[in-house]
Parts: sequence; structure tokens; C-alpha cells
Amino acid sequence: MIIQLLQNAEQVDLAGAELIKSTVRFKPNAVLGLATGGTPVGIYKHLVQDAKQGLIHFKQVTTFNLDEYVGLPSDHPESYRAYMEKHLFAHVDIPAEQVNIPDGMATDLQAECDRYNRLLAQVGQIDLQILGLGHNGHIGFNEPASSLTSETHIVELKEETRQANARFFASIDEVPTHALTMGVGSILKAKTILLVVKGADKADIVHRALTGPITTDCPASLLQLHPHVIVLLDAAAGRKFA
Ligand code: F6R
Repeated sequence: MIIQLLQNAEQVDLAGAELIKSTVRFKPNAVLGLATGGTPVGIYKHLVQDAKQGLIHFKQVTTFNLDEYVGLPSDHPESYRAYMEKHLFAHVDIPAEQVNIPDGMATDLQAECDRYNRLLAQVGQIDLQILGLGHNGHIGFNEPASSLTSETHIVELKEETRQANARFFASIDEVPTHALTMGVGSILKAKTILLVVKGADKADIVHRALTGPITTDCPASLLQLHPHVIVLLDAAAGRKFA
């Protein structure tokens, strides 16, 4: 595991965008695993700027998003589909059919998970999986539990996750209670994992995840088992590593 302690969030965004750019330069048909939430917004902003200058092309790239809320239509501004359109896809040359996001409006959610797992199996391996970190140690929406699920599944969001994400909604009541998420097994299959963590409020959990016991109580601790993880921390999140 490579842990890079950077000065500030801007440095983290630049470094994250650089890693994605070099992945796609070396392998134009790379498969990228994408996260949403507050953390990667700055990385996507840099990618969009670079794409506009012709420094990165997504024509042959395939993407798989980690997760999607259940019950939010794709045009709901807080659906992860809408987030990805807003922050990345609408501004780069990726063909729509190469974008994969679980459909949280599917009438048969289990069938939708099975479909997503089949698509993941078809590509074989994600080249670079981008992850943020939940305050409770979740990755994707794999919440702390006594056991974890390997493949894409339906998950009930923990109250703390709904609270954390309420900042994007008018009120907590509007935050969906369930989501579809790639499983920890699917995440760990990626060739390289980029974990991005910012802010003082994540200093304890990122330290625990990367240096504490490997336990399903902290799903991100399983990243310790992966042979190729790059972690980007700003100074506030990395306080305990300094
Ligand atoms: C988002 C995702 C989540 C977030 C995590 C951190 O697709 O899978 O695991 O990465 O909840 O969220 P932010 O970045 O908003 O702090």
C-alpha cells in the first residue's frame, strides 16, 4: 500500500486526476471504477478541464459506478446517475453505452444486481477503482456488519450514512433508505485501488482502516489485503500518519 500525504485537498485532487490520466494514457480502453460523494468532485473537475484541452480521451474507456440509491429516478439531482452526468460524463467524450451505473429504479432489484454482476464479470477486471471512505469505514455502500457481501447487492443504509448524506438533500427524510452497491469482493478484484480521503473528520477512521485490525466492522480495513492500493490523504485526514 502506498500512502501519500499531501498538503491540501487541491493537491489530492491533482494527484488523483493524474493517476486516472496516466491509467487511461497507458491503456486507452481502461475500465474505471467510479465513486460519487463530495470527495471525488475536485478530481472530476480536473479531468473535465484536461479533457477539454485534449489531454485525456474517454472514447474507449468503460466505467462502472460503485453504487446508486434505490428509488431516485435518474433525473433526480441527487441520484448518482445525475451526479456523474453533472460532474463528468456530460463534459467528456465517453460513449453512453460504455457507462455502467446500477439502476436503483429497477422493478426487480435483485435481477438488476445480477445484471450488474454479469457486466462486471464480462469485463473481467477493473483497472483502477476510485474509492471514498465513509465515516463509519464503508466503501461503496458496504456498511459495517458482522459479514460482508462479495458481489453487487441491495443494502439498507445505516442511519449515520443517511445523516452524512443529508447535506445533499433538503432534509434527512428525503435521503433514500436503501441502495445498490458493488460488493467488497468486486471492489477487491480491481487491479489498482485509489482511496481518496479528505478532512479532519476522517482522520480517525482512515487511520483505523489502514492500520487497525482487518474486520467487517470497518469494511475499508479489507483494503489492507489488496496488493496494489494507493491512498491520497490531505493533511487534515492524514494527521495520524504524519
Ligand atoms: C460513493 C460511495 C461512498 C462515498 C463515501 C464518502 O459512491 O460509494 O462510499 O465515497 O460515503 O462520501 P463523501 O466523499 O461524500 O465524504
